[in-house]
Amino acid sequence: MEERKFDPRKLAKLNDPARLAYLDPETIWKTVHPHEARVLVDIGAGTGFFSVLFGRMLQNGKVYACDISEVMITWMLENLPSETRDLVIPVRMEESSVPLADGIADLVYMINLHHELEDPERIIAEAFRLLHNGGKLAIIDWKKEETPQGPPLSLRVPAETIMEQVRKGGFSRCAAYSVLPYHTFIVGEKP
Ligand SMILES: C[S@@+](CC[C@H](N)C(=O)[O-])C[C@H]1O[C@@H](n2cnc3c(N)ncnc32)[C@H](O)[C@@H]1O
Repeated sequence: MEERKFDPRKLAKLNDPARLAYLDPETIWKTVHPHEARVLVDIGAGTGFFSVLFGRMLQNGKVYACDISEVMITWMLENLPSETRDLVIPVRMEESSVPLADGIADLVYMINLHHELEDPERIIAEAFRLLHNGGKLAIIDWKKEETPQGPPLSLRVPAETIMEQVRKGGFSRCAAYSVLPYHTFIVGEKP
């Protein structure tokens, strides 16, 4: 059986700037358009690659960089630039629960995580809990089709399935955006 979870020994891959060619942060940010966001929750943050990039787009905000892997949390604590200490806060979470308060987030996002989840519905419910009304959830994960990189096709989740899960999770204004070459990109809003 294919290993679902990312192997933390390969974490250097996550810091490869070549990823920005197909996961352009400006495109992602403009598409989600989180008006005056202050608090972001990055679920499955890995090395905090996107936490730092999106954190720097905030005016006076912060990003909770959540991951289940102790290796990733330790890596972030030891390696993130010192000037991001108040901007990116590493948080160790369990498979489907984030130890943060209800309604704190303007945006919860998950990048390259969905295919690794044991219980996507529970994580989506957790995102719903963390968001305030009007806050957004963005899910970006590998398309279920051949791409030059990415996890095995058998693990990838069809866009329609993710969309259905987000809708069932109580999100409204759900939309799928075709702006990334290799990734499904779905956004929903907490009503
Ligand atoms: C492929 S990496 C992506 C990291 C980061 N989002 C990026 O794109 O640079 C997936 C990360 O999700 C973490 N992960 C897997 N299951 C998780 C879960 N249920 N909750 C939080 N993190 C999880 C893994 O430890 C790994 O760091």
